[in-house]
Amino acid sequence: MERIRKYGDKVLRRKSKEVKDIDEKVQKIIKDMKEVLFRAKGIGLAAPQIGILKRIFLAIHPDNKNLIVVINPVIVEKSGKEIDMEGCLSFPGVYFSIPRAKKVVISGINEKGKEIEIEGDGLLARCFQHEIDHLNGVLIIDYATEEEKKLWKEKLQQIKRNGS
Ligand code: CO
Repeated sequence: MERIRKYGDKVLRRKSKEVKDIDEKVQKIIKDMKEVLFRAKGIGLAAPQIGILKRIFLAIHPDNKNLIVVINPVIVEKSGKEIDMEGCLSFPGVYFSIPRAKKVVISGINEKGKEIEIEGDGLLARCFQHEIDHLNGVLIIDYATEEEKKLWKEKLQQIKRNGS
């Protein structure tokens, strides 16, 4: 079972590469990611969070709980703005207040290689933007104010030290 890479792990800061072929290796990565996401009871997971620098993320639809798999995601439309608390499986127990577009449309390919376009609103839009950030090495702490970082200082140091 793959483990979740936590804040402080340098792999989370690297930029992921486009997926060229959806081959057996990619299918295996997606399978591993599903297991990790379900076990962690998360709502989203990006491949770098299990140490794989490929542009793949998973999200659970907040309404119907369907699993969404997106390969090579691109944000094609953004609108509105909403500030909300946001967590991350790589920052267990830490939450930052982060502004995001309220609505986004993303395009990409699914695990069968089919081109897809998905509209997300609210929590799902937030999740899409968060996971795409991961593929570019961007983390929730990058949006935090100095005050917030100070508030979470000990917890952040603890994650860096023990990964929990
Ligand atoms: Co995250």
